[in-house]
Order: sequence, then C-alpha cells, then structure tokens
Amino acid sequence: MKTQVGIIGAGPAGLLLGRILQAHGIDAVVVERRSRDYVLKRIRAGVLEQGTVDTLRKYGVAERLDREGLPHADMKLFWKGERHSIPMTGEGGRRMTTYGQNKIVEDLVLRREADGLPLIFDAEVKAIENVTDRPVIHYDHNGEAQTLECDFVAGCDGFWGVSRKHMPDADAHSFEKVFPFSWFGLLAEAKTSTETRGFCHSERGLAVSSSRGPDVSRLYLQVPPDFDMASMSDDQIWDELSLRLANQYGKTLNRGPIIDKAVVRLRGFICEKMVHGRLALAGDACHTVPPSGAKGLNLAVGDVRLLSEAIVSLLQENDDSKLARYPDLALQRIWPTVHWSCTMSDVFHIFPGQTAFDTRRQYEVLNFWAYDETGQRVFRENMLGRPLPQY
Ligand code: FAD
Ligand code: PHB
Repeated sequence: MKTQVGIIGAGPAGLLLGRILQAHGIDAVVVERRSRDYVLKRIRAGVLEQGTVDTLRKYGVAERLDREGLPHADMKLFWKGERHSIPMTGEGGRRMTTYGQNKIVEDLVLRREADGLPLIFDAEVKAIENVTDRPVIHYDHNGEAQTLECDFVAGCDGFWGVSRKHMPDADAHSFEKVFPFSWFGLLAEAKTSTETRGFCHSERGLAVSSSRGPDVSRLYLQVPPDFDMASMSDDQIWDELSLRLANQYGKTLNRGPIIDKAVVRLRGFICEKMVHGRLALAGDACHTVPPSGAKGLNLAVGDVRLLSEAIVSLLQENDDSKLARYPDLALQRIWPTVHWSCTMSDVFHIFPGQTAFDTRRQYEVLNFWAYDETGQRVFRENMLGRPLPQY
C-alpha cells in the first residue's frame, strides 16, 4: 500500500492529524495496534483547554462536544479543611471544558469512517525503514506482515510506541522524572456535585473529583506505585474518596456503581529529538506529563496543529523550513506545560518520607494560588494553557 502520510497510532494526536491533513487534501493512512473496540472504550483525559475546543470546532468534529461538554466557571482546591474556588475565565472568555477523551476519539473515528478514509485497527507497527528518504512502515495485520510506503511518517503512537526508537540518539535527547506514586482512575455512575469537584491535598494522599456529565463522576486517588486494583473493594474506594475529599469539608460524596478502573504511573518525560528525515513525533510519543495538570491531550493537539502545518508546506510546496522549526516551536509550549504538571504533582501528593515541614511548604503554595492575586493569576493562566506559538 502507498500513501502520502503514514500515521502511526489512533489516539487523539494521530486521528486529529489525519483530519487536518484531509482538510488540506493530503492522503493519510492511520495504523493502530489495538482493536477498534479497545480504542473507543479507553477512558483517559477529560479537561480541555479553549485551544483544543477551538481546534476541534475548526475541523468540524465538535458537534457533540458543543452539546455535551461542561464548561468550568471555576476550579476548587481543597486542603487542610479549607476549600477555595479560583475563577477560571481568562481573557476573551477563554475557559476549560470537561469532555471525555474517549468521546473525542469516537467523534474522530466515526468521522473518518463516514468519510471512507483508511484507518486500520489491530495493526501493530514493528519498524519504519528508510526514514531519511522514502519511508516504509512495516506492520502486522491479521497475522500477516504488511508494508505501507509513504512520503512522510507521523509517529503518534504514545509513550510506549515504536516511532521514538527510530530517532537517532533519542535517549541522549530525553529527560525524565518518574514520580514515586500512581493514580487510581475511576469512572462511576454517580451524580456529580460542584461542591466536591476539584483537586484535593490530603494527608492520606491526593484526590481529584471531576465529571463526565451530571450523572457520571470521574475520580482519582493517589496510590502506591505498585498498587493492585483488586486490593480495594468498591466500598473501600468510596470510603477512601470520602475521607480525602468530603468528610472534613462537611460534604457527602454521591456513590454509585464504578464502571471503569485503571492505574497509571506518574511521569514527566520529554524527548527533544522530534524530527529525523521524513519522520516526526507528536503527542505522548515525544512527551508525557503527570495527569495532575490535565495537559497531555491538550499538548498533543498543539503539536498536531504545528506538525500538520509543517507537513502541508513540505508536501505541497516542497518547503521543509517549518518542519525544521517544528521541535523548537513545540518545545516552547511543551517545557512550561510539563513543568506546570510536575508542579501540580509536587504540591498535591504526599511523597514517601514527606515531613511536616514539606507539607507546610505545600500549604504555602496552595495559600499563594488561593489567596494572592498574583498566585490566582499564575494558577488560572497555567490551567487555561499557553498560547500556541506561530511559525
Ligand atoms: P495515545 O492516546 O497514547 O495514542 C497512541 C496510540 O498509538 C494508541 O492508540 C496506541 O495503541 C497506538 N500505538 C502504540 N504503539 C503502536 C504501534 N507499535 N503500532 C500502532 N499503533 C501503536 N490529558 C489532558 O489534556 N487532560 C486531562 O484531563 C488528562 N487526564 C488524564 C488522565 C489519565 C488517567 C491519563 C492516563 C492521561 C490523562 N491525560 C490528560 C493525558 C492524555 O490522555 C494523553 O496525553 C493523550 O492520550 C495523548 O494522546 P496521543 O494520541 O499522543 O497518545
Ligand atoms: C479528568 O477529568 O479526567 C481529569 C481532571 C483533572 C486532572 C486530570 C484528569 O488533573
């Protein structure tokens, strides 16, 4: 098979890239390791920056988002029995919206399928050959080895993907911090309440309460790095959430059946080598943020906007100058955003061996964000997200 752009990975980065290239008349094939069912059901992110919402609107895949997305007027911080709300509307009405990543992925998949464009599930990419000239993607599909010849390859295959391995000296250009804890993510059929929604610092560990609609709660608990999900019953999970998020604030959590559980290790990671010949990386393939900033999907969308512009220039005008600038430009947004996500992790989690002194220092940061005008601005601007640099 042949195409102009081979896209590895049908996560938000790969699917959106396919959609933007389509709008510019560029052919692409998306190759995805997992099954269609798995990809559509994978529950992950949910907090969207205005730039992400605007991008999905611009490319005609925001009809359901506009109907079901929940805009945030504020963000609540909880700590030491204090509960503080930080107004979240930025300049020009910029705000954050809650809408599940699984729905974004579904919207993009259904659109691609309705347009009759190639999207191959159950197809694991094993290698990319000839990256500096005319790349060939090698993948397995239905037990058979297949090839896809391309003018360009976009590695949108996430942190564990294969594309980054084709960047020369990737390790020498990579920076990583693995945090000594994980998040236990839960989706529950339980009524949400603005009273208990927000980020919570507790001496028992972080808790986050978010939503996916009026009747669906999205919750997270800090757990040990090697946490076994089977070690807690649903009642124990609700008890722990109540201890961290509700009881000391005089509130009650609405309980309900837990319909999805997953554990994710927290890490910050950046690979600055994002382009080599005719291969470029975007999204989690070249950076990962701890979810405490709710930024990974938003960063992926920013990368794809910049990369798509570079690919269009390369393939339609034979101009590779934007591609050469893509990493520097994207990193201008990636580094501060990774830094912010790590700061959120530093402030809200209880670290192994943490002393009362360390906890007081965390309270000081929370005091600054909640009660100081400059602190509120710092918190709001970081949560609302950085503007996308322009070529
Ligand atoms: P992925 O979504 O990882 O997609 C990569 C795709 O490539 C996958 O489908 C994978 O199966 C496929 N693939 C991998 N290897 C191969 C191969 N060899 N061949 C073919 N296909 C392959 N971000 C936010 O912005 N806001 C949030 O609120 C937020 N909350 C989060 C909460 C949790 C618990 C987690 C885990 C993440 C959260 N994130 C959040 C981060 C966000 O989910 C990721 O940053 C986002 O999924 C990145 O998209 P991507 O397309 O780059 O990578
Ligand atoms: C979510 O709604 O899934 C969510 C909220 C806050 C985070 C991460 C994810 O930090």
